[in-house]
Amino acid sequence: MLILGIESSCDETAAAVVQDGRTILSSVIASQIDKHKIYGGVVPEIASRLHSEAIVGVVQEALAQSGKALGDMDAVAVTYAPGLIGALLVGVNFAKGLALSTGLPLIPVHHLRGHVASNYLTSPGLEPPFLCLVVSGGHSHIVQVEDYTKLKIIGRTRDDAAGEAFDKAARAMGIPYPGGVELDKIAEGGDPDAYKLPRPRVDGAPLDYSFSGLKTAVLNILNNAKQKGEEVRVPDLCASYRKAVVRSLADNFMKAAQQTGAKKLAVAGGVSANRLLRRELTRLCQETGRELFLPDLSLCGDNAAMIASQGYYEYLAGGTAGMNLNAYANVPLDVDAKDVKGEGRR
Ligand code: KG4
Ligand code: ZN
Repeated sequence: MLILGIESSCDETAAAVVQDGRTILSSVIASQIDKHKIYGGVVPEIASRLHSEAIVGVVQEALAQSGKALGDMDAVAVTYAPGLIGALLVGVNFAKGLALSTGLPLIPVHHLRGHVASNYLTSPGLEPPFLCLVVSGGHSHIVQVEDYTKLKIIGRTRDDAAGEAFDKAARAMGIPYPGGVELDKIAEGGDPDAYKLPRPRVDGAPLDYSFSGLKTAVLNILNNAKQKGEEVRVPDLCASYRKAVVRSLADNFMKAAQQTGAKKLAVAGGVSANRLLRRELTRLCQETGRELFLPDLSLCGDNAAMIASQGYYEYLAGGTAGMNLNAYANVPLDVDAKDVKGEGRR
């Protein structure tokens, strides 16, 4: 089964052709990052406009690179939630137009379920059940993937997402947006024990995360140094901060693995590209006899191949939508598209 996937939830316009949920025939990503950089973050209105301008060309390019025609497709899968509403609407309306004019089935895909599916593309042998750490710019969840379309959140962040925590600390250190990527690189040359940072914990919820305290600690270090006229060693602060965030992510994730008895673990979302997170989880899984699945670096960030992959499994589970499909800014990943009501604030 050939699925054309479309993704436009944030600042990447992407399209891809994937066979049977596992084989990428093409994957095209048009990033808008350079246009948002000068503002220090994604500007929603600009994002929507750029998606509208790029989407036709990106879809055409994905079809051309796959060596297939639109008539060869069996379905269209599109990210319908969560994300910037104006950005999502561009992809959803384009996919609806395609489905209407070709008669192809339309499959709504949850963006975070798509991130989980980046592991199916990287590891052909991976099948649920497994435990997945979903860490992106907007979300940090520990998820029990019971089946391809049956997911349960057992840990979540109470404030900032992991990617957001990296981006905000980077910004405070003067590293340009999106700082998480750059902070990770700079940290490689720093001393992770140079600065003492707190160990965040959420009382009564051992699997939940909280990163705002760590961010405040970094701001305090920067402000104190400024007041005293001292210089902050940025690589050391990057390394210390990265160590603290990764330790928190890994601690709770391994705790969850122990609690649930999970032997297969996976990571997904933009932060799954983090070098230290990958190294730490590889070490911890080796030590505890667990199998670890990491997405290929090319599939960690937003892309449409992961949407087409998850779309295949949503289709097999009967998850198609009609022309009344809407986009939603907030939908938890354990809610099916057919059950989303009203504004999707469930
Ligand atoms: O999944 P993603 O591409 O977009 C969302 O769905 O949010 O995640 C983007 C986030 C950004 O916050 C970015 O800074 C972070 O992932 N990120 C990283 C790294 N690469 C991307 N954070 C830490 N280390 C990295 N290597
Ligand atoms: Zn994402």
